Amino acid sequence: MLIEHNKNLKPYNTFNISVHCNYFCKITSEEDFISLIINENYKNSNKLIIGGGSNVLFTKDFNGIVIHNQIKGINIIEENENFAIVQAGAGENWHEFVLWTIEKGLYGLENLSLIPGCVGASPMQNIGAYGVEIKDYFLSLDALNLLNGNKSTFTNAQCKFGYRESIFKKEEKNKYLISNVRFKLNKQVQLNTTYGAINDELKLMGITTPTAKDVSNAVIKIRQSKLPNPKELGNAGSFFKNPEVSGELHDKILKEYPKLVAYPLNNNNYKLAAGWLIEQCDLKGYELNGAAVHVKQALVLVNKNNSTGKDVLNLSDYVIQKVFNKFGVNLEREVNII
Ligand code: FAD
Ligand code: EPU
Repeated sequence: MLIEHNKNLKPYNTFNISVHCNYFCKITSEEDFISLIINENYKNSNKLIIGGGSNVLFTKDFNGIVIHNQIKGINIIEENENFAIVQAGAGENWHEFVLWTIEKGLYGLENLSLIPGCVGASPMQNIGAYGVEIKDYFLSLDALNLLNGNKSTFTNAQCKFGYRESIFKKEEKNKYLISNVRFKLNKQVQLNTTYGAINDELKLMGITTPTAKDVSNAVIKIRQSKLPNPKELGNAGSFFKNPEVSGELHDKILKEYPKLVAYPLNNNNYKLAAGWLIEQCDLKGYELNGAAVHVKQALVLVNKNNSTGKDVLNLSDYVIQKVFNKFGVNLEREVNII
């Protein structure tokens, strides 16, 4: 197995940040990983797993070993007339996996089309878009302990999924390499077009009875119209989470800003659209040392002109401060800061 030294991580993160790590190793199977963990350089180093690098911000060189997970393979491991259980290797590209499920007539993941990155990272923050989160279709995953290689299985409940959250961002942070993920998908047609923009897009496309492929295409169109393509402009999608606030704070803000974008939750709290809050602070397009707030979507920070990770982090501090000063709302970062 090849362990590279002093590797530049620019091609491995969608912010296009140029930083180095001491060691870098690509693994393509669980067996590869088991042979890696007896290596002295591995044992004595800090460890970081990456897939597509589309939800990380490197703020400095990584003092340790980066393990690039490239475990592949997609298989139906169980099925009946209603459901199929599909297992995908953590290194499979997420969007290509979604397209594979659509091709096989398996329903559930179509709203999650075009999310960058790999299957293995999808449970990390319970990826979501357009009314669906993976927890709705996730069955279980295999994870290898980073210290001894022991394999465990985590069920849906054990992953403790929440909005952009899982046990792997909290109690079990930096403890496992996720190797395989299993989803339980429907064989009977079941489309979720409750998210208004999908229906609008389908209408524009002239489609009245959509298929899963149509929904996927509509989602792709919406995403392409708002979100910057990391190949053209470095970014990691939404930089912040949409904040949850109390009914009291919501009412207070609404009084002063009747156009507030807010969604009621079951617990009397509200989720606010962070993009709207940031836009109201006149920060759309705001630039700081080459890092900028995206002009089309204020929730996305971009590496516009050779910024460093620290520049992006400083910009995020500035955005957090501005939003807090204006609305009394604390924004939390979604992206993993390294
Ligand atoms: P990475 O960035 O490589 O890793 C993310 C985290 O997971 C890191 O902490 C890493 O250490 C850990 N990790 C990765 N793989 C493994 C593994 N196999 N085992 C253990 N730990 C691992 N996210 C959404 O939820 N919804 C969206 O709509 C969305 N849109 C986006 C749009 C754009 C343009 C971009 C750039 C990003 C978007 N994202 C979105 C964020 C991102 O695509 C997802 O979080 C994705 O799941 C990250 O996958 P990745 O393989 O790139 O993870
Ligand atoms: N808005 C503004 N100004 C902006 C951006 C948004 O006013 O600059 C308003 C929009 O007009 C809309 C509302 O905010 O009324 C919500 O905007 P949008 O539909 O674009 O979604 P979002 O809340 O900004 C979330 C996710 C995305 C996901 C989309 C679609 C989070 C943090 N982000 O964005 O996920 O793709 O919904 O479901 O929840 C990601 O996590 O990286 C990501 C891109």
